[in-house]
This record gives sequence, structure tokens and C-alpha cells, in this order.
Amino acid sequence: MIKVNCLNPIAECGLDMLGDQYEITENTNEAQAILVRSAVMHDMELSDSLLAVARAGAGVNNIPLDKCAEKGIVVFNTPGANANGVKELVIASMLLAARDITGGIQWCRENKDNENIAKDAEKAKKAFAGTEIKGKKLGIIGLGAIGVLVANAANRLGMDVYGCDPYLSVEHALNMSRDVTMVKSNDELYEMCDYITVHVPLLESTRGMFNKSVFEKMKDGVVILNFSRDTLVNEADMKEALESGKVGKYIVDFPNPTTVNLPNTIVTPHLGASTQESEDNCAKMAVSEIRDFLENGNIRNSVNYPNCDAGVCSTEGRITIAHKNVPNMLTRFTALFAKDNINIENMMNKSLGNFAYTILDICSDSTDEVVNELKAMDGVIRVRVIK
Ligand code: MLT
Repeated sequence: MIKVNCLNPIAECGLDMLGDQYEITENTNEAQAILVRSAVMHDMELSDSLLAVARAGAGVNNIPLDKCAEKGIVVFNTPGANANGVKELVIASMLLAARDITGGIQWCRENKDNENIAKDAEKAKKAFAGTEIKGKKLGIIGLGAIGVLVANAANRLGMDVYGCDPYLSVEHALNMSRDVTMVKSNDELYEMCDYITVHVPLLESTRGMFNKSVFEKMKDGVVILNFSRDTLVNEADMKEALESGKVGKYIVDFPNPTTVNLPNTIVTPHLGASTQESEDNCAKMAVSEIRDFLENGNIRNSVNYPNCDAGVCSTEGRITIAHKNVPNMLTRFTALFAKDNINIENMMNKSLGNFAYTILDICSDSTDEVVNELKAMDGVIRVRVIK
């Protein structure tokens, strides 16, 4: 039985896809795979039996990617699976920022016993009036799965949409409305946009990217939406910008002791992907990635190893090797098989940063001797005999 541990509740429809050879375990130390949503894994002991971690979501800042890669543990995420859920909340949040809908709802609640509420509402409502989003300029930083959906939806609502993403993929470019104007730098967005929404991962290079010097480049009263990660924003600088009115409103999906006390801020409790559809999509995608990796050795949507998909093995044997991305590895692998007169029928090798992955489909079963020699090779992190 292959053992899977769920660090967070994972949608049942995903777990149902695990099939008969799998069982859920409460014990992380015996699991071959971990499914996780927001649980923080940085201080967790990573057992030798662990082969894969799949995050049911896009962000992976709760997982120690390098530590996992060093142990040959492949980490997956589910890009795009919750994009529609996040997009819908971003659109709703722009509307909440444009008009004081929550203030109006609150007023009605407070006046629930007022017999004259209908008449009083007509006087009170001017306090909650706002503006429309149609015709306003929206800047989108990061045009991945979520950014593109937000761009298209905002465009259809009549907004003037600008996007910036130096890493824009062909797939996302093809899915994006032609009415979205691409700009070359974030600075161009900062200067002209009324609303700015950020959809980039939290990395050392993006941590604190919204700070005093960036706010100074923005239009007075700009609305900033953050459905990515709280630490993309320097919160001390944001507090100052909100107090001075430089930033008119901050919408953030990450409550922390600072964000919940910021003025002119709407905080939601990490609700972006909390829809049944998004949770189902993420769970199904995470489970299918894990199964393909455990059963076929294929890597799809990994964030610490290269994607490497050789399909289902049609030869007698398949060996996968997680290794360092250093010279001469392939020569040494092939020489080893040649020495034992084992023919390699298909080979795939890909690298990502310091790590690489090789799939070798061979004409016969592999011998223990070859596998042990591979394991002992300098630079080799993990060898798996798939078949
Ligand atoms: C994500 O990174 O996609 C979200 O944080 C997912 C979630 O809400 O768990």
C-alpha cells in the first residue's frame, strides 16, 4: 500500500482518485506522499520514505523547497486550479473598494429595529456612495493563470486594463484579451492606474516589493489589491501611505496582527481559493500529479524539480534518478548501463536550477547491482525503480 498523509483537509473528490493501492495515514513519517494546503512545513522532519509533496494551491512559501530537493522529494503545486475562485474574489473586492457596500450593510444591521428605516436610509445612504469601476484603469502585476482571468473579466466590465509580466507564457498570452495593454515595467502601471492588483509568488525578490518608494510613484488614492501573500507588502510603509491618503484603500486576503489594524483596509481570511470548485480542482490536480509521479515517475507542475514527462513506460524497465545539475551525470549513467549490456530505449533528462531529473526506459529489468551503483554515484540524490 502507498501511504499518503494529508496535512490539511483535502477535498474528498481528490482523495477518491487515489484508488485501491493507496491508503491515508496520520503518520507523516511513514508517508510516501503528503498533500498540503496552508500548513507550514518548514520545521517538519522530512522522513526518508517521503517522495513527494503536493500543494493544493499555487503558492508554495509554506514548503521548504530546497530542503526537499536536497532529499529528492519532488514538490508539486496546482497552477490555475483555483484561478477562477481567486479571480471572482478580486473582482468582488474592487467593487467593495469602489463603494462602501460593507458600511451600508452594517448600517442596515444597526438599524434593524428602526421603524423608519426606509425613510432614514434615503438620508443615510450618501455616506456609503462611491464610484464605478467602468472606465477606471486597472494594473495587473503578474499575468499567470489568475492575472489573465482578472484581466479578461475586468476588461469585460469596462475597465481599461494594463498588464506587466516579463515571464508571460505563450499559453497565457494566447488566453488574454487583445484589449489588455502590456507595459514593460511596473513603474508604468504605478504612474497611471487607479487600481493595482498583484499576482506574483512570494520570493526573496518579491518580498516587500510594495514599499514607500513604490507608493510614491503611484496615483494619489490608488486602490491596492493583494491576493498573493501579505509579505509582498511592507506593512509599515503601507500604514503610512494609508494614513496620508496616498493609498486610498488596501484590500488584502491575509489577516495578521498588522493588516487587521490598518486604516482604510478590507481584510478577508485567505478566502481567494475557498470555493467548492477551486478546492475540488486543486485536490484532483494534486492527486493526479502525485499518482503520475509515484506510479510512472513523471513530473508535472513541480516547483523544485524540472517537469519531465515520459508517459507510461512501454519497455521492460524504468528507472528515475533525481540528481544534481552538474556536468557528466548522463555520461556516467549511460556508461553504467553499457557496462552491463543493458540497452536504454528512451531517455529524458531535464534540469531546473541546481537539480535535474532523468528517466531511463530500459530493455530489461534493472539489476540490484546497477541500482546500487547509481545510488552511490556522486551527485545522485535518489534512484527509483518504477518497473
Ligand atoms: C494559493 O496559493 O493558491 C492559495 O493560497 C490557495 C489556498 O487558499 O489554500
